[in-house]
Amino acid sequence: MADVLIRHDIWRLEQDDPWDDVTLAYALAIREMQSRPADDPTSWEYQAAVHAVPDGVTPDKFRDQCQHNSWFFLPWHRMYLYWFEQMIRSTLAGMTEVDITARDTWALPYWNYDRGEDSRRLPAAFREDKLPDGSVNPLLVAKRADYVNAGEPLPALATSASNSLRVVPFSLPIGPGRPAGFGGFVTRWHHFDELTTTPGALEGTPHNDVHGEVGGSGGFMSAFATAPLDPIFWLHHCNIDRLWEVWRAEGDPNHTNPTESGWTNFSFDFHNANGDAVVHHPAQVVETTQLGYQYDDLTVPTPPRRRAPMTTPPSRELPELAGASDAQVELRGQAQAVTFALAQPAELRRREAGEPPSRVYLNVENIEGERNPGLTYGVYLGTIDEPDDTYHVGNVSFFGIERVSDVTREGGHGLRYAFEITELIDRLQDEGRWDPDRVTVTFAPLRPPSPAPQGREAAEAQPGVTIGRISVFYE
Ligand code: C2O
Repeated sequence: MADVLIRHDIWRLEQDDPWDDVTLAYALAIREMQSRPADDPTSWEYQAAVHAVPDGVTPDKFRDQCQHNSWFFLPWHRMYLYWFEQMIRSTLAGMTEVDITARDTWALPYWNYDRGEDSRRLPAAFREDKLPDGSVNPLLVAKRADYVNAGEPLPALATSASNSLRVVPFSLPIGPGRPAGFGGFVTRWHHFDELTTTPGALEGTPHNDVHGEVGGSGGFMSAFATAPLDPIFWLHHCNIDRLWEVWRAEGDPNHTNPTESGWTNFSFDFHNANGDAVVHHPAQVVETTQLGYQYDDLTVPTPPRRRAPMTTPPSRELPELAGASDAQVELRGQAQAVTFALAQPAELRRREAGEPPSRVYLNVENIEGERNPGLTYGVYLGTIDEPDDTYHVGNVSFFGIERVSDVTREGGHGLRYAFEITELIDRLQDEGRWDPDRVTVTFAPLRPPSPAPQGREAAEAQPGVTIGRISVFYE
């Protein structure tokens, strides 16, 4: 058995044949896990419930545990993937029909959707009806956006990690108006039930966006309790886990993990491959080699030309509100522009007095809706008839919206996103297009919504979301 397992890019494995040994072994192991009873911790259903329980299942210390909008997002999902990978490996160990090398060296592959147009298509084996032996393919699920199962590419802006990879530091304390850092705000145990927190940069894009794009309206990947039932979930998260390593591998002193004991020593409960309870702490997973695996490729994706790197963390002062929209905005698949006035807070006056600018943030607040419409909206500065990537601020998508809009849950106040727009404003200023008294923000879906079916289904097919407020903060 290999000392360090290598996690490979699925599109490279599948280069010549969708059924390379690693992918085929994955399909066979999933079929086996799916045959186990739901109360067996090593079953497919139980593993999904570890992320979030479906209605009617009572959470316990092992289930309903996924960490989101939190600095635990990355380490918790790393642990979750690790124990899942162990379960697949031990399932394969008993399967003589599986290629012996694949069995001995099996590691979870990842889906790197940020390597050109073809990489943005769902890997081929996940779209095949049948396995090579003619039996049903467990990697194909119907509950996905149609265009994804048809092999069309996801939008480039939804899959690009370039902007998120330059965000520093890993974490910031929760504060109004400010983005959460690369890995998420400093929080307690956080299964998405705390007020107004925004995701860390990587959790937003590509993570949340890819969930919604793949799941579409009503598909597995679009909601917490069903996402891990789609076998692509694990390859998506494997890529997110890899991007965490890419960020660290850049070697910038600001690209480092938290060292506070509130992060390193926090305890999470899981089951190992034998179904026995285990406890894991972030300190045990900060290096992938502690877990016996490595990635085959940590290349930094080509950065988009339009943004200068932000290399320093923001100050510790709280940002000041400069202005906000005064009415709700409803999004139903169309583009929408919102204009509001900006005041001149002290920070802006300092800037006008010729002092160096610090930071400007755009917030999209109190986003609510019954369920994820499965669309990603690009957010742009300015009124643009044809959204122009040059003025792209970031994306808003809706993974988890069903949890925070549920009024029976404590703290149901919607999703929130925060983006740094300092450099973009500097550029608009240079172009003579920045008006310090008012700002226009445009939301436009990254791909056209699928044609609405007739009647009642239509409303279900295109659920709307509302945005409570759009705001600009200066720091
Ligand atoms: Cu806890 Cu991508 O999800």
